[in-house]
Amino acid sequence: MNNEQLLDLVKQMTLEEKTAQLLQLTANFYEGTNVEGQITGPMEEMGITEQSVDASGSILGLSGAQAIIDVQQAYMKKSRLGIPLLFMADVVHGFKTIFPIPLAIGCSWDTELAEKSAEIAARESAVSGLHVTFAPMVDLVRDPRWGRVMETTGEDPYLNSLFAAAFVRGYQGDSLKDEPDRLAACVKHFAAYGAAEGGRDYNTVDMSERNLREYYLPAYKAALDAGVEMVMTSFNTVDGIPASGNEKLMRGILREEWGFDGVLISDWASIREMIAHGSAEDDREAAYRAIRAGVDMEMMTPCYVHHLPELIENGEVDEKLIDEAVLRILQLKEKLGLFDNPLRAADPEREREIVFSKEHRQVSYELATKSAVLLKNDDSVLPLQPDANVALIGPFAQSPDILGWWSCEGVKEDAVKLGTALQERLTGGKVQFAQGSNVHTITAEQIAEALEVASKADLIVLALGEDSEMSGEGGSRTDIRLPAAQLELVKQLKAAGKPIASVIFNGRPLDLHGVIDESDAVLEAWFPGSEGGAAIADVLTGVVNPSARLTMSFPQSVGQIPVYYNHFNTGRPLNPEKTEERYVSKYIDSPNEPLLPFGYGLSYTSFSYGDLEVSSNEMTAEESLSIQVRVTNTGERAGVETVQLYVRDVTGEVVRPMRELKGYVKLALAPGESGTATFTLNEEQLRYHHSDLSHRSDRGEFHLLVGANSRDTQKKSFRLV
Ligand code: BGC
Repeated sequence: MNNEQLLDLVKQMTLEEKTAQLLQLTANFYEGTNVEGQITGPMEEMGITEQSVDASGSILGLSGAQAIIDVQQAYMKKSRLGIPLLFMADVVHGFKTIFPIPLAIGCSWDTELAEKSAEIAARESAVSGLHVTFAPMVDLVRDPRWGRVMETTGEDPYLNSLFAAAFVRGYQGDSLKDEPDRLAACVKHFAAYGAAEGGRDYNTVDMSERNLREYYLPAYKAALDAGVEMVMTSFNTVDGIPASGNEKLMRGILREEWGFDGVLISDWASIREMIAHGSAEDDREAAYRAIRAGVDMEMMTPCYVHHLPELIENGEVDEKLIDEAVLRILQLKEKLGLFDNPLRAADPEREREIVFSKEHRQVSYELATKSAVLLKNDDSVLPLQPDANVALIGPFAQSPDILGWWSCEGVKEDAVKLGTALQERLTGGKVQFAQGSNVHTITAEQIAEALEVASKADLIVLALGEDSEMSGEGGSRTDIRLPAAQLELVKQLKAAGKPIASVIFNGRPLDLHGVIDESDAVLEAWFPGSEGGAAIADVLTGVVNPSARLTMSFPQSVGQIPVYYNHFNTGRPLNPEKTEERYVSKYIDSPNEPLLPFGYGLSYTSFSYGDLEVSSNEMTAEESLSIQVRVTNTGERAGVETVQLYVRDVTGEVVRPMRELKGYVKLALAPGESGTATFTLNEEQLRYHHSDLSHRSDRGEFHLLVGANSRDTQKKSFRLV
């Protein structure tokens, strides 16, 4: 259908049909009438009529090709104008083949593989009947207490933007119509949901507009530039106004300034939640505010269906607003090819063939090996030797709970467990197991058994972590250490006097005290997904040399939060040589620096850096700089080094961060081999938001900082003239 035809369709719709088109419900609403035709269940609770359900425009959370085919066919039979339903779900890091959590994917610094993971997730979802995924989530976060930190790729706006675009490309491909195995993507949560105060989910967000634009908005914009079809509002307030009713944010920035003409959906019940926020008196006012702000679809509350018809009839809302919203939804349905084929790629037979295929799991495996960050490796305790005699102890030694939150159709029991995989690999030696502790509890028997098993081994591999319920939505924590039971286990085993390599499965940067100091080696495995055990076992045994780098700082303690690498200097910076000085910006009981900085990660080999070479000590608006550094693999294994370029704008109209990531180069080097990392830097990359919100650069001195992470860098200066 062309646009004229779609406009014509909108004209034929009654006001009730139009408002119902804006409604999104979960699948159980479609089972909402009992045999006598009475409204029951969630429909009754929400006061939604059968007519509204019958005419609603989309469904969330249903999947499975046959189930979707059935619902769509039944729906189409009833649909007066033949408008198909849209099926959406949270395919966040995989559909059934589960990839590592997004925070882990971020640590791979591998946008190509991230794109591939999204493409696979789209393929599995599409054959299972879905049309749209509520992903990517690109909320910038600087607070690891927030449970949803696992859904982001980290604390850096530049890197997050690269991943946002990669995920959108992977889900959507080039054409949703020509490629039915792709999904429309929905970037979320607009805006700044990740800045919830105190890291408490759904909490207040308040910041200057300049801060918002400089750090929080770029990743959403990157998703838009990559052509994302949908945007989801966030639960939080922005400058005192809930996002779902925030006209400045939605109509102003998103639609008018950025030209977004796709579908904007509210987050789950967030239109009605304006009442609890205190910005709408009732459902009617909430509907009024949301539609004026430009929200097209209402997820899981009935404010629109109940009140828009009346608001239009009495002239408070212009019908044009509803027509625009409906048109955008119909346009999306058309782009997906649903008017031609309402079933799109849904196909039970292909679903059986494709979903969770070996080929898909192989990509998940690869991504998991590239996402695990080696945080410590004293005396080269790792990799394990093939004939090593290992005691594998801890609640994650044989746990399938390694998929993480938002694992969609992923089945825990299908995940490859660490213990199983390690046993297969250490054929020359042996692996002895002990539970050691549960995630939250420990008993004297467990300790005794663990010590017994440890006494017979050369080395202890401790598999520790957070269960998947401890992060994700509604999973905020004030104490981000491992549970006390596991710290007790570490302490007890330390006394056994054997080398300890700890592997941690979790969804956020942790306060690692009590683990990192007691262990000889630490591998951050995150929630590695379906092939997690195989991937982590291959990293532990050196089949794969770890190459991931942290994309969030790991704090010394919760009291340091927020701690992030691109902070300001302050007027009284701490002099590292004079830490005893009092009237400087510091803590009296903790270093300022995080425990582990952004960009950090070790390898089983070592790299040495040559001198930094810069093409000129002056940059002009027209001429970029070329920056080079030669890196040599000085160890005995092939490895990948991620060479990172940071810039500091020494003096700005607005103060500028101590360093900001501007680029990175991955060098794969054989033992003894050297390679050159080359970066180009131009004036555009030096621009930032000034006090009047203009985006431009300042002349003057800049520092170039190049190195293996955000802390260990070499420096050169140049001037922008
Ligand atoms: C989450 C969204 C998600 C939606 C639908 C909400 O609670 O905040 O990220 O897409 O539910 O499941």
